[in-house]
Order: sequence, then C-alpha cells, then structure tokens
Amino acid sequence: MQDDIEKVLIAAPDIHRRIGEMAEEISRDVSDFSEGLTIVPILTGAMIFTADLMRKIPLKMKINLMTVSSYPGSALRTQGSTLVAKQLGDVQGRHVLLVDDILDSGGTLKLVVPVLQELGAASVKICVLLRKDRDTAREVHADYVGFDIPDEFVIGYGLDYDNVYRNLPEICTLKASVHSPSD
Ligand code: IMP
Ligand code: MG
Repeated sequence: MQDDIEKVLIAAPDIHRRIGEMAEEISRDVSDFSEGLTIVPILTGAMIFTADLMRKIPLKMKINLMTVSSYPGSALRTQGSTLVAKQLGDVQGRHVLLVDDILDSGGTLKLVVPVLQELGAASVKICVLLRKDRDTAREVHADYVGFDIPDEFVIGYGLDYDNVYRNLPEICTLKASVHSPSD
C-alpha cells in the first residue's frame, strides 16, 4: 500500500490537531441546542473523520447514516451523486451536523441537504474535512472546513481509490502509475 503513495499532503498529527479545533468550534456553536445534536456522516468516506470528530464533542448526540456513491470503481472525477441508502430515523425537529470527507463538485451536499430539510430537520450544518480548490467546491456553503487543498485526487483517512486506501492514517496523493497503468 505504501508503495502506491506519491506524497503525503496532510500528516496524521496535523489532521488530529485540526479536528480538535473543529470540535471545539462545533461544541461552542451547538451547546445551546438543549435537545442535542444528530450527527450524520456521509458514508463511506466520512466514517473515519466522524469517528474521531464525534469523540471530541462532549455533548449528547444521536448518530444517523446516509450512503452516497459518486466515485464508483476507479473513477477520478465525480460520476454524479446517488443516494444509495439512508438510515435517518426521526430527524424531525433535530439539529443535524452533516459530515463529509471532502467537498469537490458539491454534488453530494446538493443531493443530501434537501433530503434532511424535507424530513423536517430544525437546522442542517455542514462539516467537511477537506475542500478542493475549485469554483464548484467554494460555491457550496460549508459551516466547518478542515483544510483547503489543491484540486488533486487524494486518498487516505477514509478517502478511497476503488474502495482501497481508506485505512491510511494520513491524506496522500496516489502515484499516476496506480490510476493510469501504462500497459
Ligand atoms: P462531490 O460530490 O463532488 O462534492 O464529492 C464528494 C464525494 O466525492 C466525497 O464524499 C468523496 O467520497 C468523493 N471524492 C471527491 N474527491 C475525492 C478525492 O480526491 N478522492 C477520493 N474521493 C473523492
Ligand atoms: Mg463520499
């Protein structure tokens, strides 16, 4: 796995330091919600980020799930976002913190935010670990952004290429030979 990495873009200690800052900011912002918070990771990519983030927010919260597919198989650009599954329970009247790994074309958030609003969420805040340096990403509102990164394909810390590399502890780029083999 390590042989496929081109370079480390964000090292693990930097990720964890930044998540600590984000968790403090979120905790301050939502501490008035007496009914507590519902955290909704967009699977599969946000799984690892959410697991670390939620353990740093010392408030009552429920967890619900949504699964969206936008980079099926070995795609390096979004193929359009599809809601594959949702396990949302009763979000009616709940304050929702939607968590995704990366904001790229914005298609995923444009798909899922209205779903939560239609189900009657009291509010929907958006938290992403990464945002790519693209107009489409900046045009979509995000309340909390961990890192702005160059418009490159990245893997690790939940992000995959063809469903592999999610377990890398840092954010990396992939060697061109892996995603575009010469033979
Ligand atoms: P968007 O819908 O184009 O904003 O992209 C969001 C989703 O696409 C993320 O939740 C990721 O699952 C996936 N994605 C976007 N960029 C990358 C990348 O560089 N590497 C891996 N997955 C990505
Ligand atoms: Mg995703």
